[in-house]
Amino acid sequence: MTRSITLRRPDDWHLHLRDGAMLEGVIGDTSRTFARAIIMPNLVPPVVTTADAEAYRGRILAALPQGHHFQPLMTLYLTEHTSPDDVARGKESGLITAVKLYPAGATTNSHGGVRDLAKAMPVLERMAEIGLPLCVHGEVTDPEVDIFDREAVFIERVLEPLRHRLPELKITMEHVTTADGVDYIRNAAKNLAGSITTHHLIINRNAILVGGIRPHYYCLPVAKRESHRLALRKAATSGSPRFFLGTDSAPHVDPLKECACGCAGIYTSINTMNCLAHVFEEEGALEQLEAFASLNGPAWYGLPANEERITLVRRDQPVEFPAKIETGAGPVTVFDPMFPLYWEID
Ligand code: DOR
Ligand code: ZN
Repeated sequence: MTRSITLRRPDDWHLHLRDGAMLEGVIGDTSRTFARAIIMPNLVPPVVTTADAEAYRGRILAALPQGHHFQPLMTLYLTEHTSPDDVARGKESGLITAVKLYPAGATTNSHGGVRDLAKAMPVLERMAEIGLPLCVHGEVTDPEVDIFDREAVFIERVLEPLRHRLPELKITMEHVTTADGVDYIRNAAKNLAGSITTHHLIINRNAILVGGIRPHYYCLPVAKRESHRLALRKAATSGSPRFFLGTDSAPHVDPLKECACGCAGIYTSINTMNCLAHVFEEEGALEQLEAFASLNGPAWYGLPANEERITLVRRDQPVEFPAKIETGAGPVTVFDPMFPLYWEID
């Protein structure tokens, strides 16, 4: 049995850090392990301009624990009024790594997102020209569409026409949750990749609904049926450069999860690598973990892989994690994979 594995230091290609006391409470869980992360812009108010992103980046760096080296890769929240020139300046200056499309109403703080993609076309055209990737939350918001079908319908109604219209635009389909998404990405001719979260490799929709409603397993896109989870595992462990880690770790304080209308989001920053080593070992694919967590993401975003290494070690006894972390904003429940974790970063 493999007892240890060394890989390049990983990155997280989709992360929510929030702001203020929550930012201070969670950043260390990421910066302890990851060298870089793509930072989601869905703050209140959202990060819409290059100036907003620069200020937010400053607050992230100021919140870093002493001695941690971590590079936040900033994104802009696409609106129907986003200025192509501002986006181009952001890319030119090296500050902006990607622009994020939230269909309006799709998820947390997305009401300022895009209702009519035609209105964002000038920005998207400019991004295709200058080689700035678009990260998409791939779900339609049409109330007629069942929540479990929203990803597949997004591919058909939004993604396919957009890729046809702008074949040079690089698109990351974030937090893919279905076999449909995996197949679509795998079969795309070019300019399409997908990130996969830790939790979607571990839970299916039963985790949320069987034996009582479990709000800490609720996120968006919502976990789907088992066959989809298996398709995600296959993609993540395949070594295909089209798939990489984006945790979508999304902290909310417990009172906002444990209530009549709980927020979407699962907090995995603290135990992601432990969970992933477990999953990749189960799949007999530990040797592909480095591609998924440390190599494919930087290659897709045109960045060098990290030079530093981390070693994961398989312990004889389970490694304990706190059930909750305390932040200045309140307690945040940590993702419970529902199996003991034996892998630990040395
Ligand atoms: O579960 C989620 N939480 N999905 C998202 O798309 C947003 C995120 C958040 O910001 O809480
Ligand atoms: Zn997210």
